This record gives sequence, C-alpha cells and structure tokens, in this order.
Amino acid sequence: FKRYSIARIAGDGIGPEVIGEASKILEATGNKWNFAIEWVDYPFGADYYLRTGETLPSSAIEEMASCHALFLGAVGDPRVKPGILERGILLNLRFHFDQYVNLRPAKSYPKVPLPIEIKGGKTLDTLVVRENTEDFYIGIGGKTEAGHIDLDLAAKRKLYSIHGKLTGDFEGKIEGAFQLGIASEPGIRRVTAYACEAAKSRGEEVITLVSKSNALPQIYGFWENMAKDEAQQHGVEVSVINVDAMCYHLVRRPDLYNVILAPNMFGDIVSDLLAGLTGGLGVAAGADIGDSLSMFEPIHGSAPDIAGTKKANPLAAILSGALLLDHLGEKGAAASIEKAVCDFLKGTEVKRMPIEFGGEGTASSVGEDILARLH
Ligand code: NAD
Ligand code: IPM
Ligand code: MN
Repeated sequence: FKRYSIARIAGDGIGPEVIGEASKILEATGNKWNFAIEWVDYPFGADYYLRTGETLPSSAIEEMASCHALFLGAVGDPRVKPGILERGILLNLRFHFDQYVNLRPAKSYPKVPLPIEIKGGKTLDTLVVRENTEDFYIGIGGKTEAGHIDLDLAAKRKLYSIHGKLTGDFEGKIEGAFQLGIASEPGIRRVTAYACEAAKSRGEEVITLVSKSNALPQIYGFWENMAKDEAQQHGVEVSVINVDAMCYHLVRRPDLYNVILAPNMFGDIVSDLLAGLTGGLGVAAGADIGDSLSMFEPIHGSAPDIAGTKKANPLAAILSGALLLDHLGEKGAAASIEKAVCDFLKGTEVKRMPIEFGGEGTASSVGEDILARLH
C-alpha cells in the first residue's frame, strides 16, 4: 500500500473548481488501485497575495520538495498586475524545480466537437514537448534608459537609430524596454533528448521543431543546430518549421504532426492553438517534468471570464491528474481515468456534456459523471 503526498495549489478563478473535481477522482482511483493520496494544500494565489504581499514563500518551496508531485490549478487574477502571480508562483516553481519539459498532449476525444474537420475523419494525437526553463522566459529584462543600462554598443546604436529616425534626437534619453532570450546547449539537448525518446516510444522517427531562424537566427539557428545534433544521437530526424508556417499548417492539417518540439514561447502559443483544435482549453492537460519535483496542471489559465459561473470544464484538470498518476508509476489508475473520460464522452447525453462542448454539464456534474464511470 502506497501513500503519496501531493502538494496542491488550487489557485485562482476556475482553478479551485477544476482541481476540486480532479482531486476527488484521484482519491477514488486510490481506493481501487490500493494507494492513498495525502494532499498538502497551499493557499497561494491572488487572495493570499493581496492579504500578505507574498506570492510563494521560500519556506513553502522547501516543504514541497519532499512531496511526490505538485498539482496546480491556475494562477492569475484581474485585481493583480499581470506577471506578479504568474511569475511569482507558476514560473517560480517551474524554474526552482528545473522542470525543463512542459508536456502538452493534444488529443481529440470521442464526440468532442472540433472547430475544423480533420481530413479523412482522422483523430488528433500530438504531443507538444515545450522547453520550459529558457528562451524569453528567463526573466531578464527591464526598462532601457540609455546610460542606466549597459547595452552592448551595437544594440545601443540600433536603439538610437530607431529613436533618432522618429524624433530627430540621436543623443538624448531614450525610453524603451527589453527582454532577453537565452538558449543553452545543455538546455536544448535535454529537452530534445526527451522529445526524441517520446517520439520513439510512439513509434515515430521524426520530430517537428518549431523555430524562427529566418528572423532570429542567433537564438533559433542555434536551437536548430543543437536539436539536430542531439536528435541524430537518438536516431531521430528533425523537421524544422517556422512558427508562423506551423500555425498555418496546424489549422489546415493538424493530423500531420506527431511530436512537436518547441522553444518556450512558441510552445506556449502552439499548445493553445492545438487545444483549440482538439475541442477546447478545458480538455488540454499538461505536465511540467524535471528530475526532482514535477508539476501537473491543465494548460489553461484561471479563466476569470467564467470563474464562479460553474461553466468551467474540469476535464483538463482531471486528465492532468491522470498524467500525475502515470508519473508516479500508477499506470493502471492513470489509464482508468483516461478510460472513464472517454466512456463519459462517448456515452453521456448531450445535456450533461461540458458547457464548453455545447452541453449543460457544470464542473461538478462532469466530475460526478466521470466518478460514476471509474472502474
Ligand atoms: P485562460 O486560459 O484562462 O482563458 C482563455 C479562454 O479559455 C477564456 O475564454 C476561458 O473562459 C476559456 N477557458 C479556459 N479554461 C477553460 C475551462 N477549463 N473550461 C472552459 N473554458 C475555459 O487564458 P487568459 O484569459 O489569457 O488568462 C486568464 C488568467 O490566467 C491570466 O491572469 C493569465 O495570466 C492566467 N494564466 C495562468 C495559467 C496557469 O496558471 N497555468 C495559464 C494561462 C493563463
Ligand atoms: C501557460 C501559461 C504561462 C506560460 C503564463 C501564465 C506565464 O500561459 O502555462 O501556458 O506562459 O507558460
Ligand atoms: Mn499558455
């Protein structure tokens, strides 16, 4: 009999609604598969921040390190300036625990209405492997006021020439902002290795790398070279597609892609696009994988536009829970959740389908219906 302690941050907006339903389902699988989950709850999010001024105390991070995994709803709230909670909690955790792979499977589930018909009635089953610790997410940036920041001379010249063309002033004070993106050889190699192994276990010999080396050759040209070199060592081929063309191809023939490897920012964008193509953010699960503590979270945010209305679709959180159990080695329990979700979608009356899919099912009615189908 196993006991797992799982750190849980329900978070903001629809976070608590969807995590509540998913948690019940995880507990129920434990009863059937002979393990127990002990939740270690943390109150972090907008309310906590507005009350205390803290996002994520370091004492809590240290405590979480001894848990088996982390389960997170979403953070972000209209009352708080964008970035404070997202960087302070979510990105802080991804970076602190060096969760370098953001796994985002995009699958079409039975009877889920898709916005675009897929050629030949095919189903979608892609896996986005998003680099999760580098790129423009490293958090180095700021306001540039010439003189305050020691930009490289070439960058400074560029800044002055743009400013000068607009204002005629080539010398004075310039206000601007910058954000640095970084890609490192080990950073690219480790996530590429992960994507290659994932591809092989899916019987694939090619991965698609989302890039943009035509406009940003320094960072993404480097990405392409390193990723190709690493992939070759795994016997996998890399097909490179620029992110703009990738978006275009994805809405036309999403079935042509299997494992998609992407730098942090492009991975963020492409995974929401794929979520839309597979029926909605409410069914798109995700995992942040590292060598120590991994985190499981739906890819959607706190959805303030529907928070408190009971409209949230809990399937993404439930399926993220399945990824969590799979990661703990509870493969049977994980598969039983996935099956219960499929059985529910195949068998339920239209009325009890999630509202996102055109039904009237609330987060709690969907949760109940899945629980009833868990075997
Ligand atoms: P969002 O994902 O919260 O919502 C985008 C759209 O999808 C909204 O119309 C929303 O109602 C809908 N949606 C999302 N999840 C749904 C679900 N489970 N069921 C039904 N509909 C769903 O993205 P946003 O509006 O850009 O962001 C809102 C807040 O969440 C912001 O503060 C943002 O920074 C934050 N955010 C947090 C995370 C996270 O914590 N992992 C991820 C993305 C965004
Ligand atoms: C996601 C979110 C986050 C990201 C935000 C909230 C920082 O959009 O998990 O996809 O950009 O990674
Ligand atoms: Mn996102």
